[in-house]
Amino acid sequence: MATDLPKSLAQMAVEVLTTADGRAKTALSRQHAATWFAARAAGTSLPIGTANPPLRPARPEQPELLDPRDVPRRKPGSPQGRIALLHAVAHIELNAVDLHWDIIARFTDTEMPLGFYDDWVKSADEESNHFNLMCDNLEAKESFYGALPAHAGMWRAAEDTADDLLGRLAVVPMVLEARGLDVTPGMIRIFQQAKDTQTIEALNTIYAEEVGHVAYGSKWFNYLCGRHALDPKEQFHALVRHYFHGALKPPFNEEKRADAGLPPDFYWPLSDQTPPSYAR
Ligand SMILES: [Fe+2]
Ligand SMILES: [Fe+2]
Repeated sequence: MATDLPKSLAQMAVEVLTTADGRAKTALSRQHAATWFAARAAGTSLPIGTANPPLRPARPEQPELLDPRDVPRRKPGSPQGRIALLHAVAHIELNAVDLHWDIIARFTDTEMPLGFYDDWVKSADEESNHFNLMCDNLEAKESFYGALPAHAGMWRAAEDTADDLLGRLAVVPMVLEARGLDVTPGMIRIFQQAKDTQTIEALNTIYAEEVGHVAYGSKWFNYLCGRHALDPKEQFHALVRHYFHGALKPPFNEEKRADAGLPPDFYWPLSDQTPPSYAR
């Protein structure tokens, strides 16, 4: 009798990418991550395999996706403003779940050490928890993910770098996720002023774990540059200028960026402001 072959990691990634409902997507994501790590703990590993990830992941019918200019702005000091902020973060987290599974499924032609997959499966699992935490917080405030419109175009960086693993690492973890490290402390302060301990706890979890995602980006970017004898800083500058639209915005969280292996001479030259003298 033929035994069923284990699913490949790439197949599991595509299953997550093609699941539309947010909670269902994150449940499957966490289940697949647990399967991957159970095999690794047993001293084996699932095959990486190959798959055809969709150009764009499946998403729920709600929220309505609008051009960023058309998403209404609300005052962050009001309860409605805080709900809008959490809704925007939930949207970013759901996008991040898909981004981490996409990098697993899309670049299987490039042979990578198993640690590359460990890092992105772990990140996808953490992003799934982040999305669930934001949904729990929205629901505690009698709202939900899908209640408000959200930014369209979050997937643009993924589409732009669909053929370029170095470009993907430069733009997604090392620019977009690093930006999260810059803005999260300010968000935490907004919820501290509102004495909202549930949200503060959730944002602190996100803040701590996102340092890891930026670090994985930096680690594998440097690794691939080394494989091809490329200068990482020059490559980073060229790829971000090519794929990322606009300048990087200070103030930068230099301490957390350093924790994540991002030195100032990587990001300051891409900003539209003069760096402090020590950064030259
Ligand atoms: Fe996250
Ligand atoms: Fe992340």
